[in-house]
Amino acid sequence: MNETIQTIQRLRTVRSGFSERKISDEDVQTILESAVRAANASGRQSYSIVTTYDKQKMKLLSGYTGDCLMLFCVDFTRIMDLAKHMGYEFPVSDIVGFVAGSTDAAFAAQTACIAAKSLGIDSIFTNNIHRGDLQHVYDLLQLPKEHCFPLVALVLGYATQERTDQQGRLAGPGIIHLEQYHRLTAEECDAMVAEYDDPAGHLAISDDWVKEGAKHYLDWFFQKWVRRPDTRQLFAALDKAGFIPHTR
Ligand SMILES: Cc1cc2nc3c(=O)[nH]c(=O)nc-3n(C[C@H](O)[C@H](O)[C@H](O)COP(=O)(O)O)c2cc1C
Repeated sequence: MNETIQTIQRLRTVRSGFSERKISDEDVQTILESAVRAANASGRQSYSIVTTYDKQKMKLLSGYTGDCLMLFCVDFTRIMDLAKHMGYEFPVSDIVGFVAGSTDAAFAAQTACIAAKSLGIDSIFTNNIHRGDLQHVYDLLQLPKEHCFPLVALVLGYATQERTDQQGRLAGPGIIHLEQYHRLTAEECDAMVAEYDDPAGHLAISDDWVKEGAKHYLDWFFQKWVRRPDTRQLFAALDKAGFIPHTR
């Protein structure tokens, strides 16, 4: 394995918290410069990265604190301002733009995460920003009200404790398809249910299913996890930011 693959294979979310050790300005700069190297549609870089070192802000935004938080936003403000500055109108970025912008933003975010890991800096991604009233995210960071949407936050820091376990991943049927799409057979579904149940595979995101006496992890997942509070607030925020097309 080369060093890049090793870094990617060592990625893991840190939930135990981060130490007080500061990330150097140089490293933050390297992470940001790496993030913007990610591929992006039409060379538009339809995103913005808002960085904060303010722990109170981090907590309010995401529920987590580290040494630094990077908020990756789908954002057409810059390109619209440029167009306006030059006397053009940039077509409004509805759901089509949102797909391109969120792809750009997600690529940049994952690239930042990998760059950080290569420097010995751990992280946690969170979309907790979407769980409450999104207006406070806009207010706290003075985000443009329209055509800008906070997609995901990356909290960075030095882990207080090295994680020894690693969350599992599916990597076979249903995930990887050769030449053409293959729907799971009933046998493959049964095998996957068992794969999720196997503690050695670390696929379950919580042990609550065992504590709550569910027969299978996926029973708990479909009955409990996916039935958590709805996402209507998120939909309303996307609408407010102008990303939901209105046909009437
Ligand atoms: C968009 C997104 C949001 C996430 N939000 C949270 C979160 O709020 N809390 C958390 O503990 N992990 C969060 N995660 C991390 C995932 O839970 C984690 O990546 C997954 O369980 C795999 O574990 P690993 O990163 O350790 O391999 C998030 C990841 C992504 C991509």
